Amino acid sequence: MAATVIKAEKLPEIQLEYMKLIAEIMEIRKRGETPLAYIRTYGCQQNVADSEKIKGMLKQSGFDFTDTPDDADFILFNTCAVREHAEDRVFGNVGALKNLKRKHPQILIALCGCMMEQEHIANRIYNSFPFVGLVFGTHSLQHFPELMYNSLVNGKRVFERGNDDNKLYEGFPVRRDGDFKGWLPIMYGCNNFCTYCIVPYVRGRERSRDRDIILGEARQIIEQGYKDITLLGQNVNSYGKTLEQPVSFAQLLSEIDSMDGDYWLRFMTSHPKDCSKELIDVIANGAHISKHLHLPFQSGSDRILKAMNRHYDRKKYLDIIRYAKEKIDGLSLTSDIIVGFPGETYEDFKETLSLIREVEFTSLFTFIYSPRKGTPAAEMDDPIPAAEKSKWFQELLDVQEEIAAKRCSSMVGQTERVLIESVKEKTGELNARTSGNIIVELPGKADLIGTFQNVKITKARNWILKGELI
Ligand code: 5AD
Ligand code: SF4
Repeated sequence: MAATVIKAEKLPEIQLEYMKLIAEIMEIRKRGETPLAYIRTYGCQQNVADSEKIKGMLKQSGFDFTDTPDDADFILFNTCAVREHAEDRVFGNVGALKNLKRKHPQILIALCGCMMEQEHIANRIYNSFPFVGLVFGTHSLQHFPELMYNSLVNGKRVFERGNDDNKLYEGFPVRRDGDFKGWLPIMYGCNNFCTYCIVPYVRGRERSRDRDIILGEARQIIEQGYKDITLLGQNVNSYGKTLEQPVSFAQLLSEIDSMDGDYWLRFMTSHPKDCSKELIDVIANGAHISKHLHLPFQSGSDRILKAMNRHYDRKKYLDIIRYAKEKIDGLSLTSDIIVGFPGETYEDFKETLSLIREVEFTSLFTFIYSPRKGTPAAEMDDPIPAAEKSKWFQELLDVQEEIAAKRCSSMVGQTERVLIESVKEKTGELNARTSGNIIVELPGKADLIGTFQNVKITKARNWILKGELI
């Protein structure tokens, strides 16, 4: 696919003006009381980062945030289209807002994100959910203040898709959800067109953010005290190819890693076809980079990988893994797998099982194939019944449970540096995570949340570790 060079531009003044206008409208409507927004995010981390941008714009428009839709003036669901199940949840949850809108007709209910970029979904919302006042797809996020203003002043339903005028705007106000976990998008979109995947259709072509802007943002969040920073993109390994001055992802990662501070640096997601030895060397030598590689392989069968249009085979995948294990001490590997791709046989599936046995992943994100309208795989013959696919899926979970338990037991007695993340409601214990992304539960006080601690691993329970502060 031809590379599209998209130059970053400043967020247009006009959008900043719209934020001011929204603030004025809400001030009058609420008679000086702070308006509240309820934002619910479905799907991947890219969506979480998009919601943080939307929250930044809402904050600048005078809004504060609430955890319940009941007292909100503005309700927004940022949706995910990657599997049917995610879409069904959105439809169910939107339906449940009908009564709220009846009780409080002044609420503005909005939907955005990947689902809304699909015409058939936007039409269904338009026809079946008349109380939804604003709908915009991922490409229209850069115009959000203008769209929201229009629906507030005109009182008419605003539906917008596919309008990104092929530009990448910078300078959005961002309101981060956490105090110590930070998401940093480095690129948007995807050019890979894996045959099962809707993402290239709803998020458009690959656009890399400017290197200096990313470095500036990284420096800022490190200085603000963020401890766990994740660089985001659908395929971070192809970062920088479309920039005027091309730069590799390995170079970018290494430049961020050289910044002073006490933090972990991660990235998501890597595509095996572009995962370079240079990148693995940077991870191996990094001062802050987590010894963790999330490298989705999707299927262990070459026949299925070809049908998925993945551009690597089992051997190439295992070669990268071998190199990475050799170079990176204590490497933790995770992956995504699809079970029941059209035409997959039990023999193909067994190749997936043998691959996970060979690699010994720390954990897996496993999915049953879900046909997505408009993708090539949705047109392929899919003769295996759902009940059969579910059996394979369960077999995969059982094998991985064994592997994870073995990996976790081998860590008992070791000392691990962990980041304390939260308190477990039920037991009052602390939840922490290792640099390899393994959960550790330990006794301790809530004021440790957001700090790094050294912990002795005392027990392993399946894929969760128990530990004690040292
Ligand atoms: N069905 C099932 N899983 C899917 N994924 C993407 N598209 C589909 C689909 N149509 C999974 C892939 C990807 C992860 C984010 O979601 O494993 O890596
Ligand atoms: Fe989807 Fe493949 Fe792009 Fe990942 S690399 S977003 S699976 S098309």
